[in-house]
Amino acid sequence: MKLDVYRYNPEQQEKPRMQSFEVELQPGMMLRDALLEIKRQDESFTFRHSCGEGVCGSDGVNVNGSNCLACITPIESLKEPIQVRPFPGRPVIRDLVVDMSQFYQQYHNVKPWLIRKEPDPEIEFLQSPHERAQLDGLYECILCGCCSTSCPSFWWNPEKYHGPAALLQAWRFLADSRDQATDERLDALEGPYKLFRCHTIMNCVEACPKQLNPTKAIGQIKKLMLRKGI
Ligand code: SF4
Ligand code: SF4
Ligand code: FES
Repeated sequence: MKLDVYRYNPEQQEKPRMQSFEVELQPGMMLRDALLEIKRQDESFTFRHSCGEGVCGSDGVNVNGSNCLACITPIESLKEPIQVRPFPGRPVIRDLVVDMSQFYQQYHNVKPWLIRKEPDPEIEFLQSPHERAQLDGLYECILCGCCSTSCPSFWWNPEKYHGPAALLQAWRFLADSRDQATDERLDALEGPYKLFRCHTIMNCVEACPKQLNPTKAIGQIKKLMLRKGI
């Protein structure tokens, strides 16, 4: 099977190029296995990966125009010619490795931790099963970045627009019955960019390897803002 992979070392090369490799197809082979085989053929080829099980979120790449996690993408599901590129819209450090600092900065900006006004309970925070269920579809995010780097609004305004991953986490804490900073969180999302730059194109939903729905979370935040405004 032939794979064309993106090669670029900005410190040494003026322009990126695509390089072709032949990889022997094995039963059950994932895209990550093919990338590892390419690395065996040319050890200068660079990409991130770790867990191999769709948990760490480090091996996000763009394949034939769609973002995915290489380790859980069966190679047989991909149409030839297979073109593997780095995430779009992020500065390339080397080959498939991009600089995700802005993505993490936006995550940090939504204060992804519980904020309490009252003192912590002596033993534990209690939640009803219903309250706990509000976090389903939110806490599972592995911060892989497949969504935000497929979002045109994030490509154009990565410093100003939080992007789908960070906004999913903003909603994760707004929806948490233990959190007591709803007003501050909503105030912090006001303005034309941070939240409202989402144009509901839904690339993010298609790209998420965990089948999460950032667009829905963004809609929930907007609804809560309206309710609070009334
Ligand atoms: S729905 Fe919003 S967050 Fe998702 S890709 Fe579109 S603009 Fe980006
Ligand atoms: S919402 Fe999905 S695609 Fe986006 S960072 Fe989380 S797991 Fe990855
Ligand atoms: S290597 Fe960890 S998610 Fe793919």
